[in-house]
Amino acid sequence: MRKHIPEHIAIIMDGNGRWAEEHGKERIYGHQNGVEAVRNAIEGAGEAGVKFLTLYAFSTENWNRPKEEIDALMQLLVKAIKNELEGLMQNNVRLQAIGNLKSLPLECQEELQDAIETTKNNTGLTIVLALSYSGRWEIVNAVKKIIEHGIEEQFVTQYSFPIFLCNNQIPDPDILIRTGREYRISNFLLWQIAYTELFFPAILWPDFRKQHLFDIIAEYQMRQRRFGKTGAQIKI
Ligand code: FPP
Repeated sequence: MRKHIPEHIAIIMDGNGRWAEEHGKERIYGHQNGVEAVRNAIEGAGEAGVKFLTLYAFSTENWNRPKEEIDALMQLLVKAIKNELEGLMQNNVRLQAIGNLKSLPLECQEELQDAIETTKNNTGLTIVLALSYSGRWEIVNAVKKIIEHGIEEQFVTQYSFPIFLCNNQIPDPDILIRTGREYRISNFLLWQIAYTELFFPAILWPDFRKQHLFDIIAEYQMRQRRFGKTGAQIKI
């Protein structure tokens, strides 16, 4: 398992609503059970030696959901951050966030900032919560920053551009996982996933367990990443 450990795994946690429906419950029940799956993903990533785990927890487009679901999700987030903080500290986990964080309810912003501040010197796994996030929003935001800084055209390259994205300290994801039996990217990390390996396990998010992550990492280790080169070039 220690061979070719992916440095960064990103996850689109989809299927909570359908999972709840399948159990004859309200949608929020699916989100609540999704927290256990989040815990499994974090523990599994830590055990596998992954350095960064980015979780798509709330997209820009999720603001269009019914108000009760948005409120319940924000409450759940506040509660989960509060409850998990001690465990994050014990396990040397650092928390970060990307997205339009200012658009989150104040209580959520405060809880998040507190957890980010408390865990900032931890050196193990880094969890990045994508909140009020979308790839297009991030790219447009980067362009705005470039204009604001008056950067000359000659200095805007594919290497300098990521400096203006939300978090330029994190390598692009090696693996992107989407649960929920949907096969799309849904506006997640559009710039960063240019050469990411994609995985679509046919399960709903609340059913995700460590073993799913280990199986995906094992399959990833069998894949050959060529980055546009030939297979023969990679073997040299
Ligand atoms: C997508 O499922 C899931 C979300 C929009 C929210 C994800 C939130 C959690 C897993 C809970 C808390 C997270 C953290 C980080 C503590 P969906 O509602 O779109 O499902 P559906 O496609 O079946 O309707």
